[in-house]
Amino acid sequence: MKKIARFFAYFLGIALIVLAAGAAWVQFSPLPTFETRSLNLDIPTDPASLTHGRDLAILHCGHCHLGEDGKLSGRMFSRPQDAFGEIWSRNITRHPEKGIGRYSDGELAWLMRSGVKRDGHLAGYFMSSLHVSDHDMGCIIAFLRSNDPVVAPSESDPPQPRYSFLARALIKLGAFKPLPYDGMPVAEPPASDKLAYGKYLVTGCYECFGCHSKSFETNDMVNPEKSEGYLAGGNPVMDEDFKPVLSANITPSNLFGIGSWTEAQFGQTLRGGLRPDQRMLSPVMPRFASMSDEEISAIWAYLQTVPATDTRAAMANQ
Ligand code: HEC
Ligand code: HEC
Repeated sequence: MKKIARFFAYFLGIALIVLAAGAAWVQFSPLPTFETRSLNLDIPTDPASLTHGRDLAILHCGHCHLGEDGKLSGRMFSRPQDAFGEIWSRNITRHPEKGIGRYSDGELAWLMRSGVKRDGHLAGYFMSSLHVSDHDMGCIIAFLRSNDPVVAPSESDPPQPRYSFLARALIKLGAFKPLPYDGMPVAEPPASDKLAYGKYLVTGCYECFGCHSKSFETNDMVNPEKSEGYLAGGNPVMDEDFKPVLSANITPSNLFGIGSWTEAQFGQTLRGGLRPDQRMLSPVMPRFASMSDEEISAIWAYLQTVPATDTRAAMANQ
């Protein structure tokens, strides 16, 4: 009997030591770094591409990077009490040290595809857009380098991330890792191939699927269509005051999706945020004011091909 008790005491002691060592490793040893590369990308200079880049950067990057000075100077992205700890988006204005002056165009492109910063650290799964085409990425980078006031050098210097124990453990154990990008060019389908183009806009260019599937945590960044609850909504997206707003079901479900809408109503909602029933959507849903009829029509056509899912989602916001 005594022997067994002694055995358990040893066992418990060893288990505690292993646990403590593991916890110390997670908490105190440096986070891993990953391969950084520089992609070879055409950066356009014509005015139409710059305007397109501005639209994409403000809609897409602006959602997280728009700071209090009205520039892309960074802001708090998750709070100290949130699951992954205190994380700020960074200053991505043209400032030579505090902004992206340090980055080459190719390094910026690598970060956007893989999620790895130029210092080799992971910027996070939320920071990468594996499916944005080379052309659209070139337009975004051209805009970030432009004289537009939104990217004029800002002195803002947001704090470095203070990851929670959970986030550190997920990074160290390899659950959070760079996206598998092989460095190959990413083409976008021609607008004449309406369904393919619509799918590109939803999964690549505007990343509607990110907010509109079940949860950021279960989204499949590599194969967006395999995300849990693809486009069926219910994802709590934080507004500026960190209040969750559930995303809407945008599958063609007649009950809870956009099944009973017309294309014209859909376009009006996307551009101005006004639903067919005259309810104004939360500002968390971007206003795609500059979207062309061609883009809206392609997104609409593609959404009709997505399986209708009868999930009640954003109606809870009413
Ligand atoms: C969902 C939120 C989100 C979106 C959307 C987003 N970012 Fe970020 N970004 C972040 C956060 C948070 C960080 C900081 C991560 C860190 O500190 O490790 C970051 C970091 C960066 C960095 C690294 C800067 C540095 O100091 O190394 C660059 C560059 C960047 N983002 C550019 C962009 C661009 C360009 C876009 C649009 C195509 C974009 N981001 C879209 C949240 C976002
Ligand atoms: C940053 C997150 C985010 C992105 C990106 C986003 N949405 Fe939304 N969307 C929301 C949220 C949240 C709501 C619900 C707002 C509310 O109920 O007030 C919403 C609502 C909608 C609605 C209204 C549906 C209804 O039944 O009320 C439509 C349509 C829509 N989004 C389509 C799109 C499309 C198409 C795209 C891509 C071009 C897109 N969204 C990108 C977050 C987002």
